[in-house]
Amino acid sequence: MIETVTELSRLRAIVSGWKREGLRVALVPTMGNLHAGHYSLVKLAREHADKVVSSVFVNPTQFGPNEDFTRYPRTPEADTSGLEQAGCDVLWLPTVESMYPFGVDLAAKVHVPGVSSLLEGAHRPGHFDGVCTVVSRLFNQVQPDVAAFGRKDYQQLAVIQQMVVDLAFPIQIVGGEIVREADGLAMSSRNQYLTPDVRPQATVIRKVLLAARDAYLGGAERAVVEQQAAAQLQAAGYLVDYAVVRMPDLSEPGTSHEGARVALVAAKLGTTRLIDNIEF
Ligand code: PAJ
Repeated sequence: MIETVTELSRLRAIVSGWKREGLRVALVPTMGNLHAGHYSLVKLAREHADKVVSSVFVNPTQFGPNEDFTRYPRTPEADTSGLEQAGCDVLWLPTVESMYPFGVDLAAKVHVPGVSSLLEGAHRPGHFDGVCTVVSRLFNQVQPDVAAFGRKDYQQLAVIQQMVVDLAFPIQIVGGEIVREADGLAMSSRNQYLTPDVRPQATVIRKVLLAARDAYLGGAERAVVEQQAAAQLQAAGYLVDYAVVRMPDLSEPGTSHEGARVALVAAKLGTTRLIDNIEF
């Protein structure tokens, strides 16, 4: 049985009990409205630990003023039963008041310079500060040995990895593969915003990433690959935030095509902002 916990004192009692028994504890942070992508992280976490805590918290500090904080989908019953089926032991459900005891305006903030300012950070100012601020709190609340994050949010994973090293959190970070719909669209809680008239076009983002990978590996110049990707997305009706090929640490590659790369896209289809990436 999964236990839903809303009090920090109860959470601490459970986790310290596990630790006294010598058990390894994993955390899977989420914002709820869970899907197979989230549940795959619970399963991955279980491979690295004896007990799994998942948190569901729609974090106000990582949403911009014109973003979807208030309309972000909230489905607590389905999340609870899905987490139980996925093998989660504890569902940690903090309130905004307990997460930010002095209020959001007086909250101590965590800022990871450099990698936070690129790509997503440039288009969503303050987003990664909000993510790091809440994830560092979740780490202190749960005190896990390992925490799982999805590769769907490639840059988020990179920012968290830098934060953990820089602030010396004694936590192993593991990255989970991207889980997709049958037609290739990366699963996301925001996919349900897609109206039926634009939903078929949502598959284009994956096709563009595959084509960008193939073109780059075929020797095409990076600037050309990026321009083609953006043009293909625009032709399919997207408003493109970025379509780029980067080094695994998100720095810009030189002219050599040797070694690992990642292509990343963020683009709006109607009112829905989609992100996806491909590593190669
Ligand atoms: P959320 O969007 O709910 O995602 C929670 C975790 O699930 C993240 O690590 C994300 O990368 C992963 N995830 C989402 N869709 C996925 C997919 N299709 N395949 C694999 N993994 C997927 O990311 C957040 O919440 C928040 O920023 C959070 C880290 C919880 C901090 O508030």
